Amino acid sequence: MSTDLSSLSSLLFVSADPSFPTSISRAQAFADKYQLPYFLDQQGDLAKRTFSKKKNSKSENKTALAPYILYYQGGSVSILQTEKAAPGPVSASFLGGKTEHRRQFGGGKGQLVAKAVGLNQGVVPDVLDASAGLGRDAFVLASLGCKLTLLERSPVIAELLACALEEARGTDIDDIVARMHLINADSSQWLANQTEPVADVIYLDPMYPHREKSSLVKKEMRLFQVLVGEDLDDALLLAAALKKARYRVVVKRPRKGVAIEGQAPNHQLMGKSCRYDIYSIKSLAGLKGG
Ligand SMILES: C[S@@+](CC[C@H](N)C(=O)[O-])C[C@H]1O[C@@H](n2cnc3c(N)ncnc32)[C@H](O)[C@@H]1O
Repeated sequence: MSTDLSSLSSLLFVSADPSFPTSISRAQAFADKYQLPYFLDQQGDLAKRTFSKKKNSKSENKTALAPYILYYQGGSVSILQTEKAAPGPVSASFLGGKTEHRRQFGGGKGQLVAKAVGLNQGVVPDVLDASAGLGRDAFVLASLGCKLTLLERSPVIAELLACALEEARGTDIDDIVARMHLINADSSQWLANQTEPVADVIYLDPMYPHREKSSLVKKEMRLFQVLVGEDLDDALLLAAALKKARYRVVVKRPRKGVAIEGQAPNHQLMGKSCRYDIYSIKSLAGLKGG
């Protein structure tokens, strides 16, 4: 379930680097809106100091009041994990790093997620990602030409995503992020309020209860588990999605994880660490030339 932010006020503080006035106002606005503690990071560059080996313990103790800090710096925002030996900052940034590498060398339409939504069948479906998270999967699909609506119910995760989309505007991936439209809402409720089908494909990747282990996923998933909680209402989400998708609903699951409760998938695509359950509504062939 999504965690109410008022219950996060001892876990998550909001802060900003003072070198960037826009960061300060945005950080304060977020803290005010969700009643989270805010402090100005007088020294600046808290991310670097938090993870530097040579820490000034006195000053760091003052700022490390919460295990998580939503930190605004320039055009970007990230979550810093302050506890001892914590992994590095988590952001949704689409610029550089692994995202860029995957975009250039990740296998294009041959990627399993692309096949799952039907991109290998000569169609480019509009996709609603109803559990957007950090937008990784959505970005892959948008970079392959799909128009994406991203729904994310956690205000903190939605904020990371909103900043990442803004940060990417005007860069060489501007055309990709222009295809991505973010809404901060609960998808089950949002879908129930729609009177017509909302997308060719609805894509779901809710948190899976025991999704841990893998080292890379670990740092982000650990953070999700604390800040977002488990998505115990995934059956409701699937049922809502099946009513509002035109062609199919696709659900990402751990390779050996059970399917979401309710209607059984029509078929499954197996990957090395994950699986895509496909719920067909009608053939994607209907999208060709249309
Ligand atoms: C495992 S993460 C998704 C990761 C994402 N596929 C990516 O590539 O970054 C699950 C996310 O779905 C969101 N979520 C789960 N159920 C939701 C719902 N009913 N409405 C909106 N967001 C939901 C959670 O808040 C969480 O951020």
